[in-house]
Amino acid sequence: MYLVRSIEDSTGRVLLKAGTQLTERYIQRIYELGYPSIYVGEPWEAEIEVIQPVSNQTKTRVTSSLRDLFTKRGPEQLTDLTEVEQSVNALVDELLVNQSIVFSLSEIRNHDNYTFLHCVDCCVVSVLMARSLRLPTRDIRIVGMGAALHDIGKTLVSQEILCKPARLTKEEYQIVKEHARDGYQMLVQRSSLDYRAAIVALQHHERIDGTGYPAGIQGRDTHIFSRIVAVADVFDAITSDRVYRKGLGFSQARKFLNDNQHQFDESVLSALSEYVAEYPVGAYVKLDSGELGVVIRLNWEHQDQPVVNLIADPTGNRYKKPITVNLASDGRRINEEVISLRDSQASF
Ligand SMILES: [Fe+2]
Repeated sequence: MYLVRSIEDSTGRVLLKAGTQLTERYIQRIYELGYPSIYVGEPWEAEIEVIQPVSNQTKTRVTSSLRDLFTKRGPEQLTDLTEVEQSVNALVDELLVNQSIVFSLSEIRNHDNYTFLHCVDCCVVSVLMARSLRLPTRDIRIVGMGAALHDIGKTLVSQEILCKPARLTKEEYQIVKEHARDGYQMLVQRSSLDYRAAIVALQHHERIDGTGYPAGIQGRDTHIFSRIVAVADVFDAITSDRVYRKGLGFSQARKFLNDNQHQFDESVLSALSEYVAEYPVGAYVKLDSGELGVVIRLNWEHQDQPVVNLIADPTGNRYKKPITVNLASDGRRINEEVISLRDSQASF
């Protein structure tokens, strides 16, 4: 088992390089350092160029500030939001300058036991949609905070219910639903936080067709920040693996959101589609030649013709070294997406 993505600390220092063979001792140490998950696979997979919307350093900083917040309990939990705010602002700053962003499959995590990881990814997706909707920067920062904290009310729900590997009973579902109002109550009392971040916690499960909760508000009477986080929340949830089901691929996720578009703000859905490529970086694809490859880079003009690392010939035999092919200037075409890199992620 090899490490596919380098592990970095919050300052961006590489602790373990991609391509390292993992031993029991390494795994134990990574676990002790508190990393909830790592990427594992074959040595050549470490060479896939995953372009992340934000640097590892910033993402790790947001992750650790939210981990602290979500693991604390009691009155001191939200007394100091400075680090969360500063790290979210750093994330917003990076996303505002980075012009060419499309999500990679490798960005999608397994969120089973970690509400805060879902909040980090939801924050990235929300900020990008807010940017594409041309909100002013000060509003984008509030969207970022709202998305980072939208599920804080879940810290009042027991782990047995949150991590139950089966369908919730009616009573359990009622308890989970309380997290929207609870989160609002927790956040609205914080004078250092813009009240609209608390509104996001309250309204992120409301739906345009009135089927949401807690108030069942119909139409666009909810705040635009809430409508943004609602889409990011669902997109991240359906593309993440859970104990009881595998996450959807991007094309299926797009279809799901289209089929349910009456529940979401149309302008927010189209803002999301700007960042979701048909064959994202990290997707395994089968070419019309029969060869198997991995998408390593997108071509902006021709998103269905990305740059691919070919890894196996038509009979399934692995190439000794991956062969890089730019499909935009090559006769070969993608027939289908076959499997994703997410299968090679290990969670602790
Ligand atoms: Fe929620």
